[in-house]
Amino acid sequence: MADASRPIGIFDSGLGGLTVLRSLHRRLPSEDMVYFGDTARVPYGTKGARTVQAFAWQDGRFLVSLGVKLVVVACNTASAFALDDLAARLPVPVLGVIEPGVATALARTRGGRIGVIGTRGTIASGRYQARLAARVAPDRIVARPCPLFVPLVEEGLVDHRLTEMACREYLTELRDASIDTLILGCTHYPLLKPAIAAFLGPQVELVDSAETLAGAAESALRSAGLLRGGGGQGRLDFYLSDIPWTFTEVGARFLGKPITDVTTVNLDELEGEGRLDLARKGDDT
Ligand code: DGL
Repeated sequence: MADASRPIGIFDSGLGGLTVLRSLHRRLPSEDMVYFGDTARVPYGTKGARTVQAFAWQDGRFLVSLGVKLVVVACNTASAFALDDLAARLPVPVLGVIEPGVATALARTRGGRIGVIGTRGTIASGRYQARLAARVAPDRIVARPCPLFVPLVEEGLVDHRLTEMACREYLTELRDASIDTLILGCTHYPLLKPAIAAFLGPQVELVDSAETLAGAAESALRSAGLLRGGGGQGRLDFYLSDIPWTFTEVGARFLGKPITDVTTVNLDELEGEGRLDLARKGDDT
């Protein structure tokens, strides 16, 4: 099983995790990578913890069935609700986006006033806040869900006055609290960096966990002896549970280049026996 030539698996609720794939591919260009986007069941950010845990388990298990050596949970909401469960149950190392984002924010903050934005689920989970609170006083942390940011990005309205209005609505509280660092706790938010920076000003450092995660993945693979040596370009394979109407444009926007070849995964196949396992586990808790 310990074979460095196996691919890295990355999953997300949809196409947003392609921002994470992009950073990983830039950092580890010779690694093969398999991306799974659960486009049939996106969004995860509005759903309850048990549903997200069930979906994340099925997504992770699917990647393991393809023989990956590491599972990267690109979705912040799935990282918030399901990372511990996946790490305990999957037979390969699992990395999420929350720890790397928190580590970077703590390293970069100058005044120790940190903001975090994400989906409703991510913010309600309290996971970012709890990790930050280990090092920063809770009254110096400002957390805010920004639910309209995901559809604005999906619609390509990143440079539009609707996005400016949403920034004003969501970020005024963070600006008034004089944060110096803001964690972009959602796969989609890196695409809003210019709009967010324009609203908050240059004194606020924006932390994109996708960048730090790539470093964490490299270290995890190196310490497990699973880093693929040699040069060459790794292969990228894409699996989706649905092909959305806007797939071509949205996919290219997140990945930075068009996605040419996609395999569709049937939901029945994805849900399979895992649903029974989870129902049993849920009944015990
Ligand atoms: N991928 C999700 C996240 O990073 C955003 C989209 C969704 O709500 O599923 O939290």
